[in-house]
Parts: sequence; C-alpha cells; structure tokens
Amino acid sequence: MEALENLNIHIFYVRQAVPTGLADAVYKAKEFVHDEEFVVALGDTIIDSLNKPIHLSRLIDFHKEANALCTLSAERILIEHCNRYGIMDIEEFKGKTTPKTFNDKYIVKDLVEKPSQEEAPSNLAICGRYVFSPKIFDYIEKIAVGKGGEKQLTDAIRLSRETGQIAALQLAENERRYDIGSFSLYAKAFVDFCLKDEEIGPELREHLKKIEL
Ligand code: G1P
Repeated sequence: MEALENLNIHIFYVRQAVPTGLADAVYKAKEFVHDEEFVVALGDTIIDSLNKPIHLSRLIDFHKEANALCTLSAERILIEHCNRYGIMDIEEFKGKTTPKTFNDKYIVKDLVEKPSQEEAPSNLAICGRYVFSPKIFDYIEKIAVGKGGEKQLTDAIRLSRETGQIAALQLAENERRYDIGSFSLYAKAFVDFCLKDEEIGPELREHLKKIEL
C-alpha cells in the first residue's frame, strides 16, 4: 500500500458535533463536493478486496454504466440481522454484462432502513460504500427524522428515486466486509489484517502461538 504522504491528495474534514444521523453527516460535506459525483465510505466498515480492480473502483464504474443517481455497495446478510442495515428491494440489472457465475448487479426498486424480518424485502444489505450524484443533497434537505430519531441516508436515497435510478453492486465472492464498529470487532479485524501482512504476519503468528500456551 502506498504511504499516505506520497499521495497527491488534499484532506479536509468537518466534524458532526451532534450525532443527528448519517444523512446529516453526509450533508456536512456539501461545501467540499460542489457539483461533482462523490463517494461516501463509512469509517466503521473495511472492504477487503482481493479483486483487481478493487470493489470501490468497480462500484464507481458500475455507477457510470447504470447512469445512476446513487450506487450502493451490497452484501447478502443473514435475514436475522436485517434490523442492523438498510435493506433493498431489487431487480436484476440488464446491461452489457459479461457472463459470470452469479448476478451481482441490481437496480434498486425500494429500500428500507433497519426493517424487521417481516418488513425486509430481501436479505441484500447496504454495506458502507456509496457513489452519489450531488443531487442527493436536495433529498437530504427534504427528509424528516427517521429510524432511531436520526436523519437517515437511506430515506434520502429512497426519495431520490423520483429523479433517478438507484443501482447496487454485490460484493464478489473473494471480497469481505469487516465491521469495525465496536472495539472487539476492530481488534479482530486488526489481527486478521496483521496476520495477512507479508512483513509482520509470520512473526505475529509465532507470538500468538506462544501466548495461547
Ligand atoms: C448505516 C446505514 C445502513 C447501512 C449500514 C452499513 O447504519 O444507515 O443503511 O446498512 O450503515 O454498515 P449504521 O451502521 O450507521 O447504523
């Protein structure tokens, strides 16, 4: 991985002082985005992609291919966990797709934030990466407070269906989502990534063997 200081990028940040919801947090980036398409990557999710190009590049490409207003990264989850995610009602995307073992491109007909099992239209969940047209800001302005007393990004995306298409790209079989939203999940992901690292992996593995005795 290339060192951050060698990349020709500018980093700006803005703090959401009060946790009023994901939609409000994204809205705070409006002044940086201006009229450009942009990516939202939730910080509590890492997507480990062995594929080249990586998942996010494929998501951006699919966003263009589907001429979408929003394109969502998607993952099949256990239906018992549907109340932790935004869940999609989907149909197959029919584009100039090359033959593959499973369909991974969808058009989103509807979506619901953290539904009960009875309400869930499928087991396909939004998994922390989004590509947006700047038009999404108009819809964030329109939404009311939703699930959990917060302004939900899912509700703004749902509303945006009136002007554009919502697309979704499922994680490939060799891509894995790590939820690092709690200390224990973060610690497990950290160990997994360290063990996979060519430089420090072997030494760490030996260390873990010793302390397990
Ligand atoms: C957020 C989104 C949800 C999405 C999830 C993915 O929920 O609101 O739609 O499925 O991230 O991690 P949160 O984890 O902030 O409750």
